[in-house]
Amino acid sequence: MVLQFVWPNIESTSRSMLSFEETTRVRRSIRGFLGKPIPDSVIREVLEDAQHAPSNCNTQPWNTHVVRGEKLKQLSQLLHAKNNAGDFTPDFSFDVNDFYDEYRERNNALGKAYYEAMNVMREDKEARHRAGAMNYSFFNAPQAAFLFMPSFGDNVRVAGDMGMYGQTFLLSLAARGLGGIPQTALGFFAATIREFLGIPDELKLLFGISFGYPDDDAPGNRVRMGRVPLDTSVTFHA
Ligand SMILES: Cc1cc2nc3c(=O)[nH]c(=O)nc-3n(C[C@H](O)[C@H](O)[C@H](O)COP(=O)(O)O)c2cc1C
Repeated sequence: MVLQFVWPNIESTSRSMLSFEETTRVRRSIRGFLGKPIPDSVIREVLEDAQHAPSNCNTQPWNTHVVRGEKLKQLSQLLHAKNNAGDFTPDFSFDVNDFYDEYRERNNALGKAYYEAMNVMREDKEARHRAGAMNYSFFNAPQAAFLFMPSFGDNVRVAGDMGMYGQTFLLSLAARGLGGIPQTALGFFAATIREFLGIPDELKLLFGISFGYPDDDAPGNRVRMGRVPLDTSVTFHA
């Protein structure tokens, strides 16, 4: 289904929002932002929406750090340097080779779509590295949120809560004609980001979200990921 609508003008009214159905369908990962910052009042509204996410045993485990301006530029330089040096310090392991069968295929489809959008040839390793490193320029977003969490047990339930918070955050952006992208890539440098922002070791970084005004002309925003049919994912029992 293709939805056509007029983006609400958030400067004249942040109250004119998309319907729930429009919001869920229009939300997608934005990989190119305009340099214009989002007003603080609107950022606070988005954070307020996210704050209403459910959580296991009402723990509300999200500890969100919003970084902007000069501080974000400095962090970007630091992350590019660490990425080039391969100096990864993740709190949680991640290996795409763990994906199998249809999950691997779906991940491959994403890689193909992104590199095609960025005009990168599969065998061009350097260009692929540059395209991937866009994560550390926050895809040009003037603000990014880092989603830190306390560590409880195997962390699976906390991570679930963080996902709910993240999706509420993303939908709130989309409803306002804004955009965002959740980024595991930021979690690869958890210790670096923690030290840079002065965050205690007890808080772990699962992912970050770069967000802002989508740049419709950015090549990264040509990516459109489809979904498998409903009945592939859902089984009804009675
Ligand atoms: C927790 C999480 C982490 C993600 N990390 C990244 C990332 O590091 N870099 C990136 O380009 N996309 C990242 N994505 C975006 C996914 O690739 C995207 O959600 C998926 O391909 C579906 O596309 P859509 O969001 O446009 O619907 C992440 C998504 C989630 C939910």
